[in-house]
Amino acid sequence: MKMRVADIVDDSAEVKVFTLRHPLRDELPVASPGSHVDVHLLDGKIRQYSLCGDPDEKSQYKIAVKREPGGRGGSRLMHEAYVRGSEIHVSAPRNNFPLEPTADRHILVAGGIGITPFISMAHHLSRQGAEFELHYASRQYPPPLMASLLDICGSRLNIYSSNSERPRRFDPKRALSNQPPGTHIYACGPQALMDAVSAATSEWPSQQVHFEAFQATLDENFKAEPFDIRIASTGSTIRVPADQSALCVLRDAGFLLPASCEMGVCGSCECGYRDGSVIHRDKVLKIDARQDRMMLCVSRARVSVTLDL
Ligand code: FES
Repeated sequence: MKMRVADIVDDSAEVKVFTLRHPLRDELPVASPGSHVDVHLLDGKIRQYSLCGDPDEKSQYKIAVKREPGGRGGSRLMHEAYVRGSEIHVSAPRNNFPLEPTADRHILVAGGIGITPFISMAHHLSRQGAEFELHYASRQYPPPLMASLLDICGSRLNIYSSNSERPRRFDPKRALSNQPPGTHIYACGPQALMDAVSAATSEWPSQQVHFEAFQATLDENFKAEPFDIRIASTGSTIRVPADQSALCVLRDAGFLLPASCEMGVCGSCECGYRDGSVIHRDKVLKIDARQDRMMLCVSRARVSVTLDL
């Protein structure tokens, strides 16, 4: 969608909140709580941003962008090149981090700008009268978007910051222990926080613990090997060399495949497969989905795989 930047608010020196509207459409595609959009930047880069407005607000999307000086340049461009009135190209929302509708209780754990998907979730849970609590750790104090969170969550918001007047540290073991059986945990933030939540919930059923990643897996020791792709509809075989992804090779072969992050975190290049031993290297697919789905940008196969293409 060709949208317009309707408003930009400086939440802090590092974080800007962009309100996006469509010039012709009053109603935008539905964005369930936890959804993100791909923003196609002026330089051709694509970045994923969680929608951080009220999901019931149909006429606009909100995204919060933290300037990352050591990043890949997308956040700097967002901060510097877009002003009120700018045209901005945005995908329809996609949700890799949905709330579990059958959960009895939800515990949301955020670190820094990883708070963004939880704002739409908190709006929704609060409106539903659902049982939830939000644990929010940030070096910065006040942390990004705190004012709106206080309005939505009230006493269900727990802030942890070493820079507040009363410094507190988030202890996942303590916060997540002794939870009733129907509790689901959702975490988004820096890798250290995700690892700590993962360790604290290692005994939990995996379907009750949900992570949203915006960074690629750091598996420096992974050694890619060549493999073959069989195309189910034609029976033809295409070789994927060790130094290329299945996505690149298939695109070179003429397949028009969607892709965005090319890091295994956005979910746009998902493809079904019928047989083969897939090496999953993405951060999107749940364990049960991995039985017959793979992410072509990062995942590979041992020897060969047959794709539903
Ligand atoms: S392009 Fe984002 S997961 Fe493959």
